[in-house]
Amino acid sequence: MFAVHLLAFHFTKLKEDQIKKVDRYLYHMRLSDDVLLDVMARFQAEMVKGLGKDTNPTATVKMLPTFVRSLPDGSEKGDFLAVDLGGSQFRAHQVKVSDDGKQSSQLESKFYPTPKDPDSVLSFLMQLFDYVADCLLDFMETKNLKHKKLPLGFTFSFPCKQTKLEEVRFLLAWTKHFKVRGAQDTDVVSSLRKALQKHKDIDLDVLALVNDTVGTMMTCGYDDQRCEVGLIIGTGTNACYMEEMRHIDLVEGDEGRMCINTEWGAFGDDGALDDLRTEFDRELDLGSLNPGKQLFEKMISSLYLGELVRLILLKMTKEGLLFNGKASTALLTKGKIEMKHVSAMEKYKEGLSNTKEILTELNLFPSEEDCIAVQHVCTIVSFRSANLCAAALAAILTRLRENKKLLRMRTTVGIDGGLYKTHPQYAKRLHKVVRRLVPNCDVRFLLSVSGSGKGAAMVTAVAYRLAAQRKQIDAALAPFLLSLETLREVKNKMRTELEYGLKRETQASATVKMLPTYVCGTPDGTEKGKFLALDLGGTNFRVLLVKIRSGRRRSVQMYNKIFAIPLEIMQGTGEELFDHIVQCIADFLEYMGIKGARLPLGFTFSFPCRQASIDKGTLVGWTKGFKATDCEGEDVVDMLREAIRRRNEFDLDIVAVVNDTVGTMMTCGYEDPNCEIGLIAGTGSNVCYMEDMKNIEIVEGNEGKMCINTEWGGFGDNGCIDNIRTKYDKEVDEGSLNPGKQRYEKMTSGMYLGEIVRQILIDLTKQGLLFRGQISESLRKRGIFETKFLSQIESDRLALLQVRRILQQLGLDSTCEDSIIVKEVCGAVSRRAAQLCGAGLAAIVEKKREDRGVDHLQITVGVDGTLYKLHPHFSRVLRETVKELAPQCDVTFMLSEDGSGKGAALITAVAKRLHNVGQK
Ligand code: BG6
Ligand code: BG6
Ligand code: GLC
Ligand code: GLC
Repeated sequence: MFAVHLLAFHFTKLKEDQIKKVDRYLYHMRLSDDVLLDVMARFQAEMVKGLGKDTNPTATVKMLPTFVRSLPDGSEKGDFLAVDLGGSQFRAHQVKVSDDGKQSSQLESKFYPTPKDPDSVLSFLMQLFDYVADCLLDFMETKNLKHKKLPLGFTFSFPCKQTKLEEVRFLLAWTKHFKVRGAQDTDVVSSLRKALQKHKDIDLDVLALVNDTVGTMMTCGYDDQRCEVGLIIGTGTNACYMEEMRHIDLVEGDEGRMCINTEWGAFGDDGALDDLRTEFDRELDLGSLNPGKQLFEKMISSLYLGELVRLILLKMTKEGLLFNGKASTALLTKGKIEMKHVSAMEKYKEGLSNTKEILTELNLFPSEEDCIAVQHVCTIVSFRSANLCAAALAAILTRLRENKKLLRMRTTVGIDGGLYKTHPQYAKRLHKVVRRLVPNCDVRFLLSVSGSGKGAAMVTAVAYRLAAQRKQIDAALAPFLLSLETLREVKNKMRTELEYGLKRETQASATVKMLPTYVCGTPDGTEKGKFLALDLGGTNFRVLLVKIRSGRRRSVQMYNKIFAIPLEIMQGTGEELFDHIVQCIADFLEYMGIKGARLPLGFTFSFPCRQASIDKGTLVGWTKGFKATDCEGEDVVDMLREAIRRRNEFDLDIVAVVNDTVGTMMTCGYEDPNCEIGLIAGTGSNVCYMEDMKNIEIVEGNEGKMCINTEWGGFGDNGCIDNIRTKYDKEVDEGSLNPGKQRYEKMTSGMYLGEIVRQILIDLTKQGLLFRGQISESLRKRGIFETKFLSQIESDRLALLQVRRILQQLGLDSTCEDSIIVKEVCGAVSRRAAQLCGAGLAAIVEKKREDRGVDHLQITVGVDGTLYKLHPHFSRVLRETVKELAPQCDVTFMLSEDGSGKGAALITAVAKRLHNVGQK
């Protein structure tokens, strides 16, 4: 009995001595909590550096955006293939995910030999991927899947700079035991695609590339939605986590979160951990495939721990501290101690006998003391690994908690990797230290039992859904993409319609009405006097006082007031409308203090009027948002006069009624005599231009010129552009005040573009592609998208968050993805509008060039309208289209700053002078 006790005492003493010896020897590897907290702080700073745009290039921890924006939400479904390359085992999986309410997944896998040897046949990237493709082919044969077209998710556990989920800008470096030539600057996804394409009998679509950390996070995230960190402690080590988009400088957008692959293995590559690295770490690094790189990984992961142990044992032996100072050849040989040996030696019960066996196999003839010491070396090395890993993980957890502005956080870390899984005490140590370092985080460590393949399939499922959605969105928007050829056709058709409108025998049935305006010249600077002007039919109704001076001090002074025209007046009776107008004039005269003066008045009336003289205009039909009764077929000048008479408060001399296009042309013509065209791209769309009298068959006389108000908004009302009208255009038309009319206007002007957008959004929502498939009350509201919103949404300067805010203002609750789609829809609709408008204008300038009989025409177009003025791209696309379709015309676009009221006053001045001359 006593002898047993004595023996036990002897053994404990022996053990203590050995442990003390090793502890002293490896003092530098035993890290206190203070040191770990310091490492944690250093890693936190490195993460910030990696995330910053300017600091990233010099950061060692690369913080790579992964383009994985959400965790699995249970809606993933389908059959997928996955390959998993980069860990200790290379494998292919078939993953079936169903969302039948039970949320389940099935995984079938097959392992293949890891393509390991850098000097073997796999020394080139294409050879590596050919091998991967061959294995996949074999897998599909085994699983009888060859006839299927399956989406493929690719777990590729190396640092990749991604630009999309399925696009790698370049591989930053090979790590671990891989070093394949010809990989830098190549997109590994397209390389794999190329390799797969060589097998004609399989059809696989590589939809996503994920790092193993990401795959692991997603695998665990499928079972636990709280999982927002993925950790690998295996051949290599690394972690990913969900970062706030607003902190990721390298990716556009501030909304939501994105998974960041930290690539923490490279922490310390700039020397930041040199104070902690030992001579053994340095020696190990020098003998590795990538000296100077992945220094943190080399202190932690299983590929290196065995070798670290060997280097320590060797040095201790050389110093006479082990094996009687005798090293065997095996101990001198690199790679002879592996992680599996370290794990075995550290086993709780059979550890010592394992140690003895392993050392004996290394021809080391160990004594009992030796075994105890060696076992303790292993413990210190793997303990340091767990400690360092815990410190970096604690930094990530702290960052997550701070991002969420929480004092305490509950979260889950998904983990995989051979070292964590198979080492007897590693997991426990790691958990304990993490909890000590971040006491305010309740962390659940969730082991990924099925590897990263399932997670890769989850990412692929999302990518697959997005790709399918993309196809649907592209299909909806495809009819809005007009080819140059189509635009040329539009131009030619417009030209034909212009001619029809001018000819006596066809003009009655022409859809482009080509209305004579009785304006026969552009201003010449001799105009003068004081005039009133009305400007009705655009966004704003205005009354103006215009003072024109002629001669050397020629100038125009204007005073104006904007008045609202309520909807019930726009669509009430004619009498009410004109009474309202007169009421506004009365207010204005009062406001200006000129009630007694009987001033000449020019009336910009922006609707189609058939004129027999400058002061007579019979309304052909209301357009845009007006529909007052008893006006069509009536002379609007008479209606205005009668309303003035009814009020019986003041008198006015109505001298001219002009269309806004004409007013605009004259406003601009006052500055530039070359301005012979007036264009409105606003609520409505229309053009006027100076035509040779000889071409205007419906007006007597062949001399000189007259301005023609084309009323091109009616282009297509005979069905001639039905081939380019979409179902959305038809819906907008049917819901409008004038169905079947103004078809071209309805594709090109501000009043309708928002409506087209709304129709597309409704359709996409019905297809489940937007707003979670819910058509909200707001989306049902006609007219919610005014031109100004369209312009704001499409502004390049606007961040997505602001787009969402605008949509929110409109009552549309959108996600970040929704707002991207809405912006795209707006872009397609407004671009087509600008192109169509450009095609129309090209027809006009070409006609003018031909009529003048010149090879090259220089001409100015006066332009007005909110669409042209406010939209960020409309004017540019319009100009580009005109240039493309009328290359022989040099068109200057002149923006009308003062509106059409000035032009109306100028016309009134001329008319008044001629009238007075006529009276004399
Ligand atoms: C596996 C994952 O379970 O773990 C791989 O499926 C990952 O994607 C690997 O690379 C990491 O561990 P090890 O020990 O194989 O490197
Ligand atoms: C104004 C003109 O500047 O622009 C109006 O003065 C014209 O006559 C209007 O109708 C057109 O633009 P919008 O966008 O207001 O319809
Ligand atoms: C290496 C790789 C990294 C991977 C890790 C774990 O560090 O660079 O991408 O996640 O190993 O496999
Ligand atoms: C509508 C009107 C037209 C006007 C245009 C721009 O098309 O019919 O007369 O010029 O809108 O306001």
